[in-house]
This record gives sequence, C-alpha cells and structure tokens, in this order.
Amino acid sequence: MALTLVESLAMSFPFKRLSEIDVMGRRVLVRLDLNVPIRDGRIQDDTRIQAALPTLRALREQKARLVICAHLGRPKGTVKPEFSLAPVGERLAEVLDEPVLFPEDCVGDAALRLSRSMNDGQVMLLENLRFHPGEKANSTEFADRLRQLADVYVNDAFGSMHRAHASVDATPRLFGETAGGLLLEREINALQKVTRNPDHPFAVLLGGAKVSDKLPLLRDIVSRADAVLIGGAMAYTFLRAQGKPVGKSLVEDEQILKAGDILRRAANHGCEIVLPVDHIVVDEISNDSTTTTYRIEDTPEDGIGVDVGPRTLESIRGALQGKRTLFWNGPFGVYEIPQFSEGTVAIAKMVADAPGYTVIGGGDSAAAVRRAGLAPFLDHVSTGGGAALELLEGKDLPGIEALRVI
Ligand code: 3PG
Repeated sequence: MALTLVESLAMSFPFKRLSEIDVMGRRVLVRLDLNVPIRDGRIQDDTRIQAALPTLRALREQKARLVICAHLGRPKGTVKPEFSLAPVGERLAEVLDEPVLFPEDCVGDAALRLSRSMNDGQVMLLENLRFHPGEKANSTEFADRLRQLADVYVNDAFGSMHRAHASVDATPRLFGETAGGLLLEREINALQKVTRNPDHPFAVLLGGAKVSDKLPLLRDIVSRADAVLIGGAMAYTFLRAQGKPVGKSLVEDEQILKAGDILRRAANHGCEIVLPVDHIVVDEISNDSTTTTYRIEDTPEDGIGVDVGPRTLESIRGALQGKRTLFWNGPFGVYEIPQFSEGTVAIAKMVADAPGYTVIGGGDSAAAVRRAGLAPFLDHVSTGGGAALELLEGKDLPGIEALRVI
C-alpha cells in the first residue's frame, strides 16, 4: 500500500536531497517561489527571495549552472508586464552579488541558447512561467520545453508545492535526476512537528476572510487539536451559525450550515472553539472610519466588524495558556488597514511570547509577525500559506509527489 506523505516523512524525506545529486558543471532547473509583493515595480517584502538563497548558494558552490524558474501573481496565461519577474531578477543579482541573465520568455530559442552557453556558477532567471497557459494547465508539452533547458531538476518552491502546475508537477517527472532544496527540507522538518503527533495541548488559530477556503482543514483539525481559535471575517459565519447578530459583517450564507456542523463536530471531539465575544465595528471600511467596540450580541444592524475587540483578545490569551504547540494562519481583522490591524498584531505578540512550539503558516499572519519584528521569537515562519495549510490537513502535495523516490 502506498504511504501517505505524512507516513513517509516519519521515516525520511520522500525525495532526494541536494547533497545526493551531482550538479557539477550541469544545468539545474531550480523551481523557486519568488511570488513576492511588488508595488509600482518595487519589491515590498523580499522574504521569499532571501529564503531561496541557501539552495542557490549551495548549488553555485558545487559549480552548477542555475536556470531558475518561478511565477509571479496570476496573469492568467498571457503576458502582462506588471507581472514581470524583472524586479525579482534585479534583487537576486544584488543579493547574490552576481549578474543574472534574464531572457524575455521562459521557454523558446533565447532561453535555450543562453542555457547552453552558461558557465559554471552562472545564474539565469526565466520570465514568469504563468505567462504561458501550459503552466497552470500542467501541460506536458510546456513541461518538455522547460526540461530542454536543464539536465537536473531541483524544487525549492515550498509555497507552490500544493499547485499541480507544469513546473511543479509535469516537469520533474521528465527529468532523470531530481531533488528537493534546502528550504523545502527546512519547511517540512518544522511543519511535521505540527502535522505529526504535535505536543498536546495543541491550539490552532485560523483567521482570514473566507470560511470556504478553510472548511476541509477545519473539519479535520477539530478532531486533532485541543482548541481552535477562529477570527477574521470567517468568524462571522460561525457566529451566524450560533444565531448571533453580526450586522453587515461579511458572512458566507451558503456556508452557515457547514460551520454549524464543524461546531458540533468540535464538541464531539472535545475540541474547544474560541470565537470573538466583542469586535471593532464601523459603518464603512475605510482608512478614516470611526470605530466603536461592541459585544457581539449588541452589534448594530448596519455595523461591519473589522477587528477583534479587547475581551476577545483576553479570551484568546486565556485559551493559549499552557498550550505546547501553536499553529496560526490568517489575520484576525482587516489587517491591510492599519487601524484595524491591532488585534492581529496583539495576537502575533501572544504567539511570539508563548513558550510552546510556535509555527506561523505563511500569508498575512507571517507578514504581521515580520512587520512587528517578532519573527525571531517564533520557531518557524513558513514561506507558504496554502501549502502549509494543505500539509496540516494531511494532504499529499503534488510538488512532493512529483519528486518522490520512496
Ligand atoms: C503563494 O503565494 O501562496 C504561492 O506563490 C502560490 O500562489 P498562487 O496561490 O497564486 O498559486
């Protein structure tokens, strides 16, 4: 019987490691997650670029010729200049202190010619893979065009491992020699302490806007965690399931019944569910709206909840007491607007202060801990939001399956 990812991780990594492949003088196609926030052509946060450096440096030390491929945003299979990886290429050149070749298409003659004329240690970054529809369609034909650019394949794109896209799934299957990179190893090592036999009591904090994104995880996690703390707009669907008034706060009506099921399932498994008891309410969501704090049951009909209130923060603090493992993904308010980000920042501090094993599952919660300077106080801040959540849910990730050797 085939082992699941989690079972095979219990024995070892299911893929070859960087040190187990021969890259000397060979062209290595390196799939990275360089999906960084860019505004007006400027990179806002280069964490994912920094996280890729150990693998890039290790490969260059071994005299590999690096052909890096990555995606940026969701340009939907067409060339959109605002999604060009050019600013990422410039930053890579700065941090590697090495010129980075940048052909204007990720496949085709120019990239092929350059790949064949590279010297040992030289670096090329390919333009956004998602400019081609074949990437998202997991097309074998597109994968084969990528395969022609290199002799060996390395995947270090942890944040993209849950996408069955060509560069992650079809392409490695065409190579004779593949390996997982150092970031992938680090992420899996850290996350398996949460996904496999976490130290109990184990608490999961889940925020964000949409319940529908996190329903499968919630269904699963209430049977394994001792407490699940729900915040952000998705809490309102649960509060509605309990018949509470939430004004005009964001509710996914079609998910109310499922939210109710999850609450019952949690009760059956003895999992404590912590929902907001008060919140910060506005008439409209804008930078300068006037805010008022209400208990949930006093929410005015026209009010929109945008952040957790002080009583909720106290109940979260209480629920986190004594927990030996904490996993957090998703902001607890409209975090992009500074005056509604206070709850999320307060939670970031509580998680950072917690004595147990603490993991942040990427996305806005990772941005919140970094912005507050708290990342060094956590055991692990993942570079992948969706990928970390799918791993937590016990799913096999397509990118790991495509590298599997055991
Ligand atoms: C991410 O930012 O979570 C990854 O790069 C995957 O991006 P995607 O959600 O657009 O596939």
